[in-house]
Amino acid sequence: MLKKEIQKIKKSISEDGFYHCQMSNIESFFELSNRLGTIKQYTEVRIDSTKDEFPYISGEVDFHTDNPTIEILGWFTHFQDEHDGKILLINVEDVLSKMTKEEIKCLTNVNIKMPSRKNDYYPFLTEGKKPHIFYIPPHCWKEIPKYTNKQKDAVMKFHSLVLDIKKSKQYHSINLKQGDVLFLNNYFMIHGRNKIAKNSKRFLERVFIQT
Ligand SMILES: [Fe+2]
Repeated sequence: MLKKEIQKIKKSISEDGFYHCQMSNIESFFELSNRLGTIKQYTEVRIDSTKDEFPYISGEVDFHTDNPTIEILGWFTHFQDEHDGKILLINVEDVLSKMTKEEIKCLTNVNIKMPSRKNDYYPFLTEGKKPHIFYIPPHCWKEIPKYTNKQKDAVMKFHSLVLDIKKSKQYHSINLKQGDVLFLNNYFMIHGRNKIAKNSKRFLERVFIQT
């Protein structure tokens, strides 16, 4: 792939929040992923009833971000679910645009526990040219008792605005077919999925790309 094409893909991910295309094979997907940054983690995403983390459950996956230190998430599609399995995306700029400056300030002072780490916390929101959000609802609820009332209200407002967008289906819905690839900006896009069958054959490969 030409340098110019890589630049175009990077621009889509950093400005639009995602890049969706079809690729001939998984080797090309890994090659492209390596050109976008450094692959830090690789996961097979498929139903596994012995595990309860998001990549393995058949139930609905609430909107969330993944590890906040990872800017780009990439998926390659081996098999899609027969009925759904679409990846749903919300740009958090659309959520924050409905919040006051004071509420946004509160979110920058709220910390959420990092996944799979004992005592590492990360800010719910870091402001910049684009927002950098860290949002995993179950982790937020565990921290809520530690927050001030204003911080609590700000987190709950963010959450209820996400639910409003979800209810009115004002999200991007990406239907990944076999051979499809999706790269997502994990800093300012949150992702989720509807419920799928317990025996779904849906099988994706996911990479965490550090830029
Ligand atoms: Fe996720």
